[in-house]
Amino acid sequence: MTMADSTPAASPWVVLKFGGTSVSSVANWKNIAAVVRDRLAEGLRPVIVHSALSGITDRLEQLLAVSLDSHNTLGNEAQAVMNQIEQRHRDLARDLGVTPSQDLEEQFKRLRQIAAGIALVGEVSERLRARVMAQGELMATRLGAAFLASQGLDVQWVDARTVLKAEQRRNANLRSSYLSATCNYEPDLELQRRWSTQGTVFISQGFIASDEQGDTVLLGRGGSDTSGSYFAAKLGARRLEIWTDVPGMFSANPRSVPTARLLRALEYDEAQEIASSGAKVLHPRCIMPVKQYGIPLYVYATQTPKLEGTVITTHGGNVAAQVKAVTIKKNITLVSMETVGMWHSVGFLADAFQVFKDHGLSIDLVSTSETSVTVSLDPAANTLDKSTLDALMVDLGKLCRVEVIGPCAAVSLVGRNIRAILHRLGDALELFEEQKIYLVTQAANDLNITFVIDEGQGDRLVSRLHDIAIQKMTADRVLGPTWEELYGPKDKAAIDLKQWWHDRRNDLISLGREHSAAFVYDRATLTAKAKALRALPGIEGVFYALKANWHPDILKLFAEQGLGFECVSRAEVEHVMKTLPKLDRQKILFTPNFAPRAEYEWGVQQGIWVTLDNLHPLKAWPEVFKGRDVFIRIDTGYGRGHHDKVRTAGVHSKFGVPLFEMDELERLVKASGARVVGLHAHTGSGVFTVDNWKSVGDTLTALTQRFKDVRIVDLGGGLGVPERLGQQGVQLSEFGETLAALKAAHPQLTLWIEPGRYLVAEAGVLLAQVTQLKGKGEVNYVGVATGMNSLIRPALYGAHHEIVNLTRLDDLATEVFNVVGPICESGDQLGNDRLLPPTQEGDVLLIATAGAYGRAMSSTYNLREPAIEVLI
Ligand code: LLP
Repeated sequence: MTMADSTPAASPWVVLKFGGTSVSSVANWKNIAAVVRDRLAEGLRPVIVHSALSGITDRLEQLLAVSLDSHNTLGNEAQAVMNQIEQRHRDLARDLGVTPSQDLEEQFKRLRQIAAGIALVGEVSERLRARVMAQGELMATRLGAAFLASQGLDVQWVDARTVLKAEQRRNANLRSSYLSATCNYEPDLELQRRWSTQGTVFISQGFIASDEQGDTVLLGRGGSDTSGSYFAAKLGARRLEIWTDVPGMFSANPRSVPTARLLRALEYDEAQEIASSGAKVLHPRCIMPVKQYGIPLYVYATQTPKLEGTVITTHGGNVAAQVKAVTIKKNITLVSMETVGMWHSVGFLADAFQVFKDHGLSIDLVSTSETSVTVSLDPAANTLDKSTLDALMVDLGKLCRVEVIGPCAAVSLVGRNIRAILHRLGDALELFEEQKIYLVTQAANDLNITFVIDEGQGDRLVSRLHDIAIQKMTADRVLGPTWEELYGPKDKAAIDLKQWWHDRRNDLISLGREHSAAFVYDRATLTAKAKALRALPGIEGVFYALKANWHPDILKLFAEQGLGFECVSRAEVEHVMKTLPKLDRQKILFTPNFAPRAEYEWGVQQGIWVTLDNLHPLKAWPEVFKGRDVFIRIDTGYGRGHHDKVRTAGVHSKFGVPLFEMDELERLVKASGARVVGLHAHTGSGVFTVDNWKSVGDTLTALTQRFKDVRIVDLGGGLGVPERLGQQGVQLSEFGETLAALKAAHPQLTLWIEPGRYLVAEAGVLLAQVTQLKGKGEVNYVGVATGMNSLIRPALYGAHHEIVNLTRLDDLATEVFNVVGPICESGDQLGNDRLLPPTQEGDVLLIATAGAYGRAMSSTYNLREPAIEVLI
């Protein structure tokens, strides 16, 4: 065989293979149509290969069985199965808005005739079995072709049996040549020429082919992947895309290990190994043909077409040794053979293996010692009933002592150069202290190590091995996000600190329905946050920056917790005074920026703390501050924070007196007769490194050498809160240690902080009812009752807020949406590319972490009132 005549990179062909689930719903078919259009837009020629509707292959098998059981005429049961098969297709046709074609009607009829024939004859040949089983794909592709044509695509339906030809295999029995055939896949220039019509989309069947006599043959269960691969090789395709119901290959089965990571890139051999050792995403046989011609293989999920998926190529991912997957195969039977005579004896293994061959059993793993040999029999490759095993035992018993052990599980660690990482697996291997290991093998290709243990222990072991060998590794080019991160808010909540709103779900849904848009704040969380800050060591004053949220009830709650208030305008100060008439004036800190003279005059008369953050007030109106205590805001020279717009120090920011103006400041202070009792700095908002407050503390305390009256150092606010899943907020314990150390070094100084976001962000959520849904091009939109008029942060800073569908919190999130509001600007988006469960009008969405700078920055833009506020 020669290499492909054209290199994949230059080829116009792309083969798209869709599995059973992928072709069984309208939503998926819409995605398929979008993918096809995308590929056409890329200038490619798509060839679709797809499976039967999900469950139909099983139904066909059932049809064969019950037809055989019928006597002479098709019995009721067989009729019922046949009706179900037909109805499934009619239902999908209706949902897709297409009428079953004449060909499809013909197929239904023929299938009934064949079933009746089987009933009459009372037997079914392998040849006929293959013909019946092939109907699933033949029927489904008729519907697929009709739907794509209804979408305006130029579609041509092709019978795969005219393209894929089974190979004659030596030693193949009749059964396997009809039901588990392999095909020739050399580049087929004639096919490429025949299909060269521009713009046409070809659609054909997976799973089926034909043999030399023109009989229908099958490629074995899961054979559709292999069909895709054969088509790709024959066409010399640019790539093969396998679309299934999981978005790629994972480092473990995500359904049992939710922390399984997406494997972004693999080599063919690794993918083959993972597929062969138990993962169900790809059929192991499909890799060889694309590997041989260097055709990249992509794995994607049809229901979430935007997720990145896995790409399998020659160079794959990392060259470094790395465990990439932990897989499990169950229902393994071990046969252990023991004999003292084996030592140095010639031909024992040959004799023993001959017995397995005679019984038609294929051996998977082997391990030998001087006195024993243990082999495993994989159920996927063997039909192991009791009588087969008994017969095997009898014959082996003539050679040695035999023991059958099972059911077992084979747990494999898979990855390149696995031998090189054995030493790192120390922790993982300790697990086996409690487990009896029956067999350990290390594959000759250095791609896997397998442990065979009792089946009951298998799953537990997989998840522990996965924790040790993969989960704690940091994400890289190969290891992508976890399944939990990609899907399912339910699981998210479990790994993240469980958010309060999970427990208040029903109340929130009612509130969302009642008001259609509402900010809801949780008193318990507000209180807990205030208490946590009050408990910080080294800190004597916590001044809440009420610009984040000035709801009067929140101010009252914080006052009860002993917090002071940081205000940036006269109106904010007056709001605090009005809300809390009994509040000690020394608990109000006024930090205006570029405010007019009058505001300072007013401020200093109120008996509140006033901060100057420019030289101008001291230069231009020194008399205002004569004999007064003031704070000075210092620009420490560097800004920090989640976005440029919220970094409030450094040359590009308008805040604070820069360090190079300290001499002038000292002079002006003296000249004005003011007393500097406090120094302040706030470098920005949404800061995660505790280092920030340490260096602010160092800078400010050093300045107390110049300003001898300073008693208070205010380190500012800015404590970041996690906005994305898995992100860590500022660690309060670490923050506390920094503050305590600073205080210990300067016991004469009083330390203050003035956070806003930290106290309120997580305590608040924005609820918004779904108004409309639409799909436009590739993008699906969920419209909700409020948008940037309530929460402008995504539009202004590209800020991320988690969004969940509260109404359907328990459903798997499988669709990607842009969540948008009703405001007349394209920027009116609350979240892009968000995974949500299938969502409907009237559902209540929850936009998380909206307690800070949400309502506070809202507007009546478009004369739409922002969401109302409720405390619970
Ligand atoms: N102190 C001063 C002097 C401030 O300017 C600010 C916030 C704070 C304290 C409180 O910062 P916090 O702890 O909340 O991070 N609208 C932006 C945030 C702007 C913050 C402005 N200054 C946002 O939504 O992210």
